[in-house]
Amino acid sequence: MKTYAGYETQFTNDDSQLTDIVVGFDFGASCSKIILRTPSIREEFFVVPFSDKVEGELKYLFPTKIYYHEDSLQISLLKFDGAESKEHLKLRCLRSSRDNPLSERCKFTAKELTVAYIANVLQHIRAWFLTEHQNGYKQYKLYWRFNFGYPSGRFPKNYTADFSFFAKAGWWLSLQKEITLENASLALRNVHNLDFNCGLERDDINILSEIAATITGYAKSNYRKDGLKLLVDVGASTLDIAAFELHRKDGDDIYSVLESDVQLLGAFLLYERKLQIILERIRKHFNHIHLNADIYKPVPEDIKIDWNKVCEIDPFNIDIFQKAKKMIKKIIIQLKRNLDPLSPAWHDGLPLFLSGGGKNLFFYKRVLSDVEVEMRYHHEFKKFVEPPNPIKLGKDFNDSSRFLVAFGLSYPPEEIGEIREPDKIKKIKRLVRNKYEGIEMWGKEVE
Ligand SMILES: Nc1ncnc2c1ncn2[C@@H]1O[C@H](COP(=O)(O)OP(=O)(O)OP(=O)(O)O)[C@@H](O)[C@H]1O
Ligand SMILES: [Mg+2]
Repeated sequence: MKTYAGYETQFTNDDSQLTDIVVGFDFGASCSKIILRTPSIREEFFVVPFSDKVEGELKYLFPTKIYYHEDSLQISLLKFDGAESKEHLKLRCLRSSRDNPLSERCKFTAKELTVAYIANVLQHIRAWFLTEHQNGYKQYKLYWRFNFGYPSGRFPKNYTADFSFFAKAGWWLSLQKEITLENASLALRNVHNLDFNCGLERDDINILSEIAATITGYAKSNYRKDGLKLLVDVGASTLDIAAFELHRKDGDDIYSVLESDVQLLGAFLLYERKLQIILERIRKHFNHIHLNADIYKPVPEDIKIDWNKVCEIDPFNIDIFQKAKKMIKKIIIQLKRNLDPLSPAWHDGLPLFLSGGGKNLFFYKRVLSDVEVEMRYHHEFKKFVEPPNPIKLGKDFNDSSRFLVAFGLSYPPEEIGEIREPDKIKKIKRLVRNKYEGIEMWGKEVE
């Protein structure tokens, strides 16, 4: 079996047999998920694995970080000697500091590291496909297309425009034999020129909304029903909510976003909050022991700490719980009172799409069940109904909800619905919020 390098793109240059191949790239705050699709051949799709060292779904997660050596400037998706990891690339790119050098020791910006990260991931994907799938595809000339997700929060226009530049610069860089940060920087400068050729036709490289991508699988399935839907994405850092109407116009899917909100109430921040609470308790406990130590009394042999007591946390007392409930309730009340009071969802149940890895935590399930009960009691709300999951990814996947965005993005862009933002819909109150602006970098990344 021939082994291909990641900068290569073809098995053959003979174009008597052609197939398009779409890269669906979900650039997540914690990890990226990648699905390739060959829509013209057997409707096949492939979830691209990152590592064989782990089992199940984890195998298919590309951590959103890059290893960097400050002397040699070498970079890699894998850890190597002397390298430090640079994390939170997506979060950094969505903050106003994205054009500043990352730290005193790293003169490159989050944008440059992101482009290098994307290029590395693209090389990994192509090397994997060309090497592993040569038996089924080597007679075809491949017509590559690249769909890159942009976040569903609402940002200043230049932030999301940057995602298009990242995609183009990343594709160009992935075609070079060697990926360097200097070239990432060069690509980011050149990508603004109209004559910049990233290696793909203009229509074949697109940035597409994560919301639209999340429900594309459903919208294309036999389960599809038009009408009002609620989407709740529990990401690593944020809880994103979008209420939208799914409908068709001239054969195309349209998602009219009626209301959306995004707050820093995601799964990893919840975990960090719990750690903070425990740390605070340990501090207090030690202070207490210290204050009560008496030099005249017999000195105890051991220091006794009741760790169970220190670590026992009632998660529903954490402020994130109340805030998450309030945020979801507020949107549903708005929909019911003002935005879509006549929707059949108020009699039949409101379809609720849950996505993101954090949805598996009991904490968020409890948030939603509490919202449902309180809404029923005080606002004549019927219930949530969870639409059937139309996506089957294979035996490695117990839960495909983390891969919904990548799945949607793997469709040719003309088949992914169009998002109509609230400002294009009359009488809709707009919420303008920058999803990541308020986030402080957490844990070991604090510099
Ligand atoms: N089964 C699980 N139980 C608990 N937590 C989980 C589970 N699966 C994933 N998570 C956590 O959920 C969080 C969200 O994962 P997800 O992959 O949806 O985020 P992301 O796409 O990287 O973030 P974003 O959408 O904000 O860019 C991560 O912190 C992840 O570790
Ligand atoms: Mg995500």
